[in-house]
Amino acid sequence: MHIREIKEKIYAVGVNHWDRRLFDELIPLPDGTSYNSYLIIGSEKIALIDAVDPSKENELIENLKKINTQKIDYVISNHAEQDHSGGIPRVLREFPMAKVVTNAKCKGMLKDLLLIPEDKFIEVQDNESLSLGNRTLQFIFAPWVHWPETMLTYLKEDRILFPCDLFGSHLATSDLYAIDEAKVYAAAKRYYAEIMMPFRKNIQKHLEKLKNFQIDIIAPSHGPVYHKPEFIINAYRDWTSDNVKNEIVFPYVSMHGSVEKMAEYFIDAVMKRNITIKPFNLTKTDIGELAMAIVDTATIVIGTPTVLTGPHPAAVYAVYLCNALRPKARFASIIGSYSWGGRMPEMIKEMISNLEVELIPPVIAKGYPKLEDFKALDALAENILEKHRSTGII
Ligand code: FEO
Repeated sequence: MHIREIKEKIYAVGVNHWDRRLFDELIPLPDGTSYNSYLIIGSEKIALIDAVDPSKENELIENLKKINTQKIDYVISNHAEQDHSGGIPRVLREFPMAKVVTNAKCKGMLKDLLLIPEDKFIEVQDNESLSLGNRTLQFIFAPWVHWPETMLTYLKEDRILFPCDLFGSHLATSDLYAIDEAKVYAAAKRYYAEIMMPFRKNIQKHLEKLKNFQIDIIAPSHGPVYHKPEFIINAYRDWTSDNVKNEIVFPYVSMHGSVEKMAEYFIDAVMKRNITIKPFNLTKTDIGELAMAIVDTATIVIGTPTVLTGPHPAAVYAVYLCNALRPKARFASIIGSYSWGGRMPEMIKEMISNLEVELIPPVIAKGYPKLEDFKALDALAENILEKHRSTGII
């Protein structure tokens, strides 16, 4: 990838992965991603912030050679996950004098995951500084951005924060900076939703800590660089806050049309009450879109038929995901149908133990929905409206 100079002698040397379409064999990447890495040349020492995914390590090394850097003294590892650390062993082979600078927990993980030997490390403490001569790096421990070892690196003189995953976006773009704010906002929200939402409370604390730092630029390790840091910091404040929106997220699946008919009716009943509803037919859903939708919704309603006495497997997957991502939703309910019996609603209730939601009584039809079922769906929509009013969001 083309190298860009962010400030004098501070280079973006990372790589776009334009056509990657899946992360962790789980998360869809509609816009690809990037593995950002930054070279900081001080008057005495040279530091590389994060490496890249091992599939792109050749390009990282080529970029470093293009700058004609004779040496790297420090490889700062903010996070041990392989999309940022996987290229470190190669960097150490190319620059044998380099040392990996990180915290004790990350060191342990890098030894386990990448077999980097003990003598290659310099271990740092929270808030410790490292001089590059005319430039100084400060390390800010931020456990549970989504792993326990994560830290942020702050370049004091230039007021640049290198937060690795935090504030990042899975977005391959030729823009160095977050110019297209609408696009970057959506990509960053998707990224937050997919991996950081379960750690919302931890991230609130990290945001508080960052108030003590003057930040002119945020240079994450995925997606574009923020030249207006308040844009992404404010977005994170909103997503991690306890505020929810007057919205219902409605993942559903139907086999023979009963749940589909109920879904149609329920969507209209909700719209009549001026509540935003985001339906997701689970046979066609990008799970990233679903994750993004539950970041700030007040209510989640699951729609499913009964299959072999329980929820449809597509609904099980969606419920599992919602439970694992721990959104801040306040209310939940279930819409469904059955032919001959089962304990589908009970099974869904058992699967959402992580969610701090009030369960609103479900609407379950025997077979195709009839007049009394439609009345019950109206009552459910009304009930949700009242609940939303009671929280003050309307
Ligand atoms: Fe981008 Fe948690 O790695």
